[in-house]
Parts: sequence; C-alpha cells; structure tokens
Amino acid sequence: MAKILDGKAISASIKEGIRVRVQELEAIYGQRPALAVVIVGSDPASCSYVHSKVAAAEYLGIHNLQVELPETASEQEVLDAIRSLNENRNVDGILVQLPLPRGIDEEKVIEAVSYEKDVDGFHPMNVAHLWMGGKNMKPCTPKGIMRLLDESGIEISGRRAVVVGRSNIVGKPVAKLLLDRNATVTIAHSRSADLGAVTREADILVSAVGRPGMITADMIKPGAVVIDVGTTRGEDGKLHGDVDFEAAREVAGWITPVPGGVGPMTIAMLMENTLECFIERMTGEKAGIVK
Ligand code: GUN
Repeated sequence: MAKILDGKAISASIKEGIRVRVQELEAIYGQRPALAVVIVGSDPASCSYVHSKVAAAEYLGIHNLQVELPETASEQEVLDAIRSLNENRNVDGILVQLPLPRGIDEEKVIEAVSYEKDVDGFHPMNVAHLWMGGKNMKPCTPKGIMRLLDESGIEISGRRAVVVGRSNIVGKPVAKLLLDRNATVTIAHSRSADLGAVTREADILVSAVGRPGMITADMIKPGAVVIDVGTTRGEDGKLHGDVDFEAAREVAGWITPVPGGVGPMTIAMLMENTLECFIERMTGEKAGIVK
C-alpha cells in the first residue's frame, strides 16, 4: 500500500513559517507583503481557486487586493488594470487567474505583468530564466511538486521521471525542474503512442492532464512515486484527479491524494513567491528562498 504524499500537512507547515516571517518582517519594515489577484469573468473553477488563494493570504497576514472584471471586459481594460498594479508601489505580487475569457489574448496579458511582480512565473522573462537555470520566480505548481518530493525525502537524482501533459503552467516547467535535479525526464501527452509503456518506465510519474481515471494501476511501475495534478470537478461536485487512486495506491510506493496533494502546495508556493517579491522590494536583493 502506497504512502500518502500529504500536501495538506506539508503546506500547512510551510504556511506557518511564512506567517511567522511576515510578522517578523512587519516588525522590521512596518509593512506587509501585498498580493493582487485579477479575475476576469465568473468561471466557477477560477472563482474557487481565487477564493482559496485570497483565504490563504488573509490567514498569513498578506494584504490582498482583488480586482474583479466582468466577463465582458475588453482586453484593453484588463491591460489597464495590470498597468495600474504594475505602477502601484505597494503591490508586491500580481496574479491573473487563467483561463481568460475568449477574445482576450492570454499571451499579451501575461507579458503585461511586470516580471518582477510575476508570482506565477509565467512571464516570458521568468520562463527564459527557468530554462536557462537562473534564480527566477518559479511557477507555483511545479515548485510545489518539487517541495513535496523533497519534504518527503524522495530521491530524484538519476531516476526516470515521466510527466504526462505539456502545458506551460505545469507539464513543461516541472519537467525542467526535474531535469535540473538530475532526473532522466520524458514528457508524454495525449498523442503519445502506447502511453502505458511510457508511464511504466517512471520511477516518478507526474500526471497533469485533467482527465479523471486516465492513469490506471496497470500504467504504474510497482513502487513508483505518483503525483496527480489533475483537478476535474465531477458531476458529484467532488474534485477528481487523473489517477485511479484506489487501484493505484495498491501498486505505487508513494501517491498524492486529490484533493489534499498538489493543490495546497500550489497555494503555499504562491504565498512564498509573494513573500520573496516583498523581501526583494524591501532589501533590493533576491530572497533566496527559491529552491
Ligand atoms: N489556472 C490554473 N492554474 C493556474 C495558476 O497556477 N495560476 C493562474 N494564474 N491561473 C491558473
């Protein structure tokens, strides 16, 4: 029976560290970090994610500024809102919740966010630094996955890692972070031939597709570490991962639950990125928390 990678518990201890640090920094600088969250429209999944991010910020004593624009907002209105946050000297981090409504150019919006305030790590400058191996803002979910592995004492170096999914938010960046830690990395996707043969090679399997049940127990190497990034809300109102959890836990060595695995780690990393931006604003130096 697989051991559980408990993202909820690990993220709680990371957040506790951030909460204390925020208080210490406030005593020194008389200010707290501030995170601006921009949401356009009212997609239920996006609203729920934003709610969790804002609640975490509030709990940690991080100021939060929510900018809500209607579904009908024009691209220019979104860009104007971002420009005003870029220019606001009291805002440390800016996050634009994705996806954006149709008709708004996502790339243009991501590029509009000042890369120094880009707590998502999506700006081309941060993406470039990620691939060059620099000390940049790392995207939250990939960073959270690496922290989950590290905090659980899982060896990465020299092991075979397979990432299923090639998104800019998770698949591609987590593959690079695993590569940086000397894993031998394969990126598979919906068009990969004989996906099971590929995933069965994995000592560390990361699935970030968003298709419930697509990773079945027979696709998992016995003893493998299984990281499930999928979060699809079912008709039952519950969140479902990509992995057939009950069967997979009989085969895997370690496994993340959904919910309570990767999701809370993403939020903790967003808070950490915001804290890093704040420390940089206060000291003019990189915080060096980035792992
Ligand atoms: N939509 C799904 N995941 C994310 C994320 O990590 N950041 C933002 N901004 N939007 C998302």
